[in-house]
Amino acid sequence: MQSNLFVRRIEPTDISSCERVLHALPHWFGIQKANEAYISSLATLPAYVATVDSEVVGFIAVKHNNRDTSEIHVLAVEPNMHRRGVGRALIDAVEANLRVMGVSLLQVKTLGPSDHDEGYRRTREFYEAMGFLALEETTVFWGPENPCLIMVKPLMHVDSPIFTEPNSFSPKRCNSRRTSPPL
Ligand SMILES: CC(C)(COP(=O)(O)OP(=O)(O)OC[C@H]1O[C@@H](n2cnc3c(N)ncnc32)[C@H](O)[C@@H]1OP(=O)(O)O)[C@@H](O)C(=O)NCCC(=O)NCCS
Repeated sequence: MQSNLFVRRIEPTDISSCERVLHALPHWFGIQKANEAYISSLATLPAYVATVDSEVVGFIAVKHNNRDTSEIHVLAVEPNMHRRGVGRALIDAVEANLRVMGVSLLQVKTLGPSDHDEGYRRTREFYEAMGFLALEETTVFWGPENPCLIMVKPLMHVDSPIFTEPNSFSPKRCNSRRTSPPL
């Protein structure tokens, strides 16, 4: 893990850095309209950035679907920072807050294994390593060309918050990369 890795709530000044991260990942984020929607969502959804030496290297945004379930809306880590614990640190921060809120399930939708794309195979491996379980592959959401795999992770509830709501800035040192159970 990067020793200088931190996760904190997103701030308006982080948005251009998040755009830069998306543009560096054209295999996953190659559709301009979709990217614009992801970036606008950062103004309204709970979102966090990961920084190394104060530079944004990744971000995540979460939707609260209902009282029990939240969903990863977007997650991206700068390519030259992959496999250094940044994605795990972002998931850890989100989960910590959801547990305090009493949310029981964290969901993510990604491209399913019926599509043999190598990049998304790695994405699924990441989510599996984070403890997510494959629930169902379906063509209902994105059509037959883009089979959607729904993955879920049950969350255990805890009492004390890591980040306070709403939008207060509370940096957290991320040192739990290898201590979380596999997803
Ligand atoms: C998926 C993504 C967010 C993972 O971020 P990351 O910072 O590289 O992941 P981490 O370093 O925290 O990886 C944690 C664990 O996940 C697993 N993992 C991560 N990347 C993996 C890969 N390419 N292949 C296999 N396992 C992988 C490993 O078990 C890893 O632990 P280890 O490095 O100790 O073996 C990042 O690769 C990314 O931005 N990908 C492109 C965009 C994307 O797929 N977004 C999600 C769309 S639904």
